[in-house]
Amino acid sequence: MKAMGALIMSLALSACSAQDDRAAVDYSTIEIPVDRLASDDTRDRGRALFKKKCALCHGIRADGNGVRRKGLSSTPANFQSTDWRANTSPRQVYMVLSEGKRGTSMPAWPTLSDEEKWEVVAYVLSVAEDGP
Ligand code: HEC
Repeated sequence: MKAMGALIMSLALSACSAQDDRAAVDYSTIEIPVDRLASDDTRDRGRALFKKKCALCHGIRADGNGVRRKGLSSTPANFQSTDWRANTSPRQVYMVLSEGKRGTSMPAWPTLSDEEKWEVVAYVLSVAEDGP
């Protein structure tokens, strides 16, 4: 009986630590590829990815008006908003892409490579200033 309890305990513990490993990315220390983010090429690739993966919810003009918007419990972010732009950062957007936003319809994007994530970051952060 005691052994059984220990087994259950260790199973529970290993399940916990598996979860902790995933949450363990420290986004405050990841390096921001500043030069790449400023490049037009990066932004263009980001726009193409955005149209494929994000426009459904965030809109083809990145204004939050995607065709799926109506069915969602939370409103997709509007990247044309200068308010939104003023209150975010490359690090913040990269983190949202990696983790999603808990409790909202914003999913995580494990299918995007690191390179692709930064391309999309470059694009969405440029919209308020340079347009979609
Ligand atoms: C299924 C719909 C959906 C898809 C697809 C989607 N999003 Fe979102 N996204 C949302 C919603 C809803 C929110 C608002 C979440 C909230 O309430 O804060 C959001 C918020 C965001 C935010 C803002 C987070 C913040 O707090 O500032 C970013 C950045 C973002 N999405 C980027 C993207 C990118 C880039 C893609 C494509 C790779 C994408 N999203 C695809 C629904 C979606």
